[in-house]
Amino acid sequence: MVSPMQPEPFRIRMVEPVRVPDGAEREEALKRASFNMFGLASKEIYIDLLTDSGTGAMSKYQWAALLCGDEAYAGADSFYALKDAVKEVLGFDYVIPTHQGRAAENVTFGTLLKPGDKVPFNMPFDTTRAHVFNAGAEPVDCVVDEAFDPAAEHPFKGDVDVSKLEDVIAREGKEKIPLIMVTVTNNSGGGQPVSLKNLRAVSRIAKKHGIPFFLDAARMAENAWFIKTREQELSSMSVKEILRAMMDTADAITVSCKKDPLVNIGGMICCRTEEMYHRLLPRVILFEGFATYGGLAGRDLEALAVGLREMTDEAYLAHRVGQIRQLTDLLDAEGVPVVKPAGGHAVFVDAARFFPHIPQMKYPADVLSVEVYREGAVRGIGLGALAFATEDEDTGEVVPPKLELYRLAINRRTYTNSHIEYVASKIIDVYKRRDQVNYGLDVVKAPAVKGLKHFLAKLQPVSF
Ligand code: F0G
Repeated sequence: MVSPMQPEPFRIRMVEPVRVPDGAEREEALKRASFNMFGLASKEIYIDLLTDSGTGAMSKYQWAALLCGDEAYAGADSFYALKDAVKEVLGFDYVIPTHQGRAAENVTFGTLLKPGDKVPFNMPFDTTRAHVFNAGAEPVDCVVDEAFDPAAEHPFKGDVDVSKLEDVIAREGKEKIPLIMVTVTNNSGGGQPVSLKNLRAVSRIAKKHGIPFFLDAARMAENAWFIKTREQELSSMSVKEILRAMMDTADAITVSCKKDPLVNIGGMICCRTEEMYHRLLPRVILFEGFATYGGLAGRDLEALAVGLREMTDEAYLAHRVGQIRQLTDLLDAEGVPVVKPAGGHAVFVDAARFFPHIPQMKYPADVLSVEVYREGAVRGIGLGALAFATEDEDTGEVVPPKLELYRLAINRRTYTNSHIEYVASKIIDVYKRRDQVNYGLDVVKAPAVKGLKHFLAKLQPVSF
């Protein structure tokens, strides 16, 4: 059943014109982009759901705050505005701004990891995984098995399987595990939340072994919303209170502020102890900037301070998560295989079931990206074998990932419910002609850097 639409809790006062390029323009664009969605230009797209990162609309309060930016190199007022917001909303005493999330990862992993280390996760996102590799270490997925079954209606498919986690610690020894990290929500597994109960359990295990516990908190407010609506005994708590309870489980967090904190650029690391703060600072200064601005302008810090407070607004979250549920329901009602239950920031289509006749190493999720763009100038992205297949270092054997997903990430406060209906109709049109899609994709050229192939690969259609 398709759930009722949530009306937009905002009105639009600045308009960004968009147009639908015609079929010939789209074909031309696909060729020019070498069939890679990252190669398309914005003007070639009507609805852009490539990512929910940095693509949202700021509120009038955030725009007003920009004018208060203090651009002092050290000790700017804007840094203290951010520090106050972090303390108030998240409860951490120390904050290190960075220019975006992966910079926070670079600082954290570059400082704390050494070659040969293992980092248990529920599941890391692609750039996070690449940063762990870049530090010479290896991520270990410990997510619950239900995460790999797109049809399983488990409410917290981002949860860590604590027995998998205990096994990794027992196998590797805690000396090889400089930190444990849980991604909230689990982007790579379909934007699925982690329960508070699970965060508390992981936190206890981390404490027992003396291993620092980090959250990748890019989508922490959406996660708190799901805890409120799915973890029954917590439904009387506000999103604000739940968010604080989530944060209380962690020693530190890395954040891409381009997601839930509602800014177009920015990231941060927050931690509890002066010792951790001082350990991380040298690498911030090397790669980002001085400790009080970390690669951001003072005005960015001001907008972020406001965004951190706005992200817990429950009317906003109800509409946002409602749009994702709506799109999931519209597709599901027509038989399109989608990851269930609906996640927090994106709708994920199970491309393996959408195109069962396309072999996984011919990249069905990326074929779906091409076809949806072709159908309606909508840009989504494949998150399957092209992004996540690994190669066994000894045998050279290619190991495809367990999930072959196509993601439509919904930008915050940007698209209306009628845009969502348009997207649904275009995907349903592709689904109706799915049997006639009889090609796969081959990589013609790609960078050799581990984990980054999908961003820059040149692709070409091939028959199989
Ligand atoms: N962690 C998670 C869970 C993410 O989803 C991302 C980015 C990052 C870290 C890195 O943050 O982009 O600010 O450097 N995800 C984007 C996406 C790009 O499309 O899902 P960043």
